[in-house]
Amino acid sequence: MTICGIDFGTSNSALAVVADGNVQLVRVDEDSQTMPSAIFYHEDGTAVYGRGAIASFTSGDSGRFMRSFKRTLGTELLEYGAIINGKLKKYDQIIAGFIRHLKLRAESSLGIDLDNVVMGRPVHFVDNNTEADRCAQNQLEKIARLVGFKHIEFQFEPIAAAFAHEQKVIGEKITLVVDIGGGTSDFTIIRLSEASVHKLDRKEDILSCVGGRVGGNDFDRDFCLRSFMPILGYGTTYGTKGMEVPISPFFDMSEWSKINSLYVPKVLKNLREIYIDSHSQKTFGRFVRAVEERAGHKVLSTVESAKIDLTDKYEIQEKLEFLEDGLEIILTRDGFEQTIMHHIETIGKWIDNCLREASVAEEHIQLVILTGGTTEIPLLQKIVKDRFPHADISGSDKLSSVGLGLGYDGARRFRSSLNSIVSI
Ligand SMILES: Nc1ncnc2c1ncn2[C@@H]1O[C@H](COP(=O)(O)OP(=O)(O)OP(=O)(O)O)[C@@H](O)[C@H]1O
Ligand SMILES: [Mg+2]
Repeated sequence: MTICGIDFGTSNSALAVVADGNVQLVRVDEDSQTMPSAIFYHEDGTAVYGRGAIASFTSGDSGRFMRSFKRTLGTELLEYGAIINGKLKKYDQIIAGFIRHLKLRAESSLGIDLDNVVMGRPVHFVDNNTEADRCAQNQLEKIARLVGFKHIEFQFEPIAAAFAHEQKVIGEKITLVVDIGGGTSDFTIIRLSEASVHKLDRKEDILSCVGGRVGGNDFDRDFCLRSFMPILGYGTTYGTKGMEVPISPFFDMSEWSKINSLYVPKVLKNLREIYIDSHSQKTFGRFVRAVEERAGHKVLSTVESAKIDLTDKYEIQEKLEFLEDGLEIILTRDGFEQTIMHHIETIGKWIDNCLREASVAEEHIQLVILTGGTTEIPLLQKIVKDRFPHADISGSDKLSSVGLGLGYDGARRFRSSLNSIVSI
């Protein structure tokens, strides 16, 4: 019996295997234990994944780059699919291609076939829609079966992160997990203890689970719209009536899963017509050029890396030479924080709900686990530290703790013997 856990993330994925009684993350992408959830479809029909996909895209190869496809689960986009090299490919096939690749990489590096899996899932794939949520999990289960898994179980991502950290817990700790990734924010309050590590039934320890569809992708979108799109003509006017240029193309360029929808002839024709009557041809012309040159992913990658640079710096200068010689933009951490403040408030409310559902008072939280790449944001860390001043804060392995925890969960659920534990 071979067992693994898969964290299929919006931005990064990981796979942990249970082998020889140990749980360990597998090097699935070059030397790395995480793989960017990215695919590049070359025009000759071949596909490359993870860092290879990013390299193909960055070096300007012809083809189609895709990210954030997890976000289509449970939405109508899954059914519509995307046109890739002239052919319609549904998103379930796209996701299956990615998960199959992850599985094959792990199998070839381990020399075994994997047939049992615990897949991670967010607390909610879709907000306030139980049916869409159920549907998303069913779609993911079908995909896992399609790629060859025989037994498939699911676990909430923040609970998995808690299981990974539990390996290091001494005594018993009432723990809050704050897992903010690329697509969703997920929270749990759970009782962790060294004595529970092998316990099969954890229902009594899980005090609450809360979550919603806010993640780093939403921060990128809002930062892009507020700080980058205005210099590409967002909010400018055209024509004799002085109408505002349509906003939807700017929104599409700001959302990873929608950028490709800009690259259809109808959209470009429409943008060129507006350009003729534009009152701000210099700025709007940059947007038209970005669409003509299919530079949308490059724009949004620049936004994301600016966001990441503002983790360490208070002010940065971001060059947009690929759009226009000498074009650059000054960005500040203050500006970024203002842009994301409404999301931070939503996250605060979810933490309230999580405490309320668990009937646990703030001061009784002994450990806070910060996981998911978005929890690198200094403002988020400060808010959590200010709110739980008495708790220990653990922020290690932000991109891999969910994957590792799914491995531990798999070991327990599939009743494999865990002789020794590999700590994270
Ligand atoms: N230093 C940083 N500052 C701000 N954001 C960051 C930083 N590092 C990574 N991120 C963001 O973290 C997100 C990726 O985190 P992670 O890999 O945990 O997500 P994921 O697990 O793939 O997504 P999800 O769990 O929501 O499906 C991206 O939006 C990325 O831009
Ligand atoms: Mg995640």
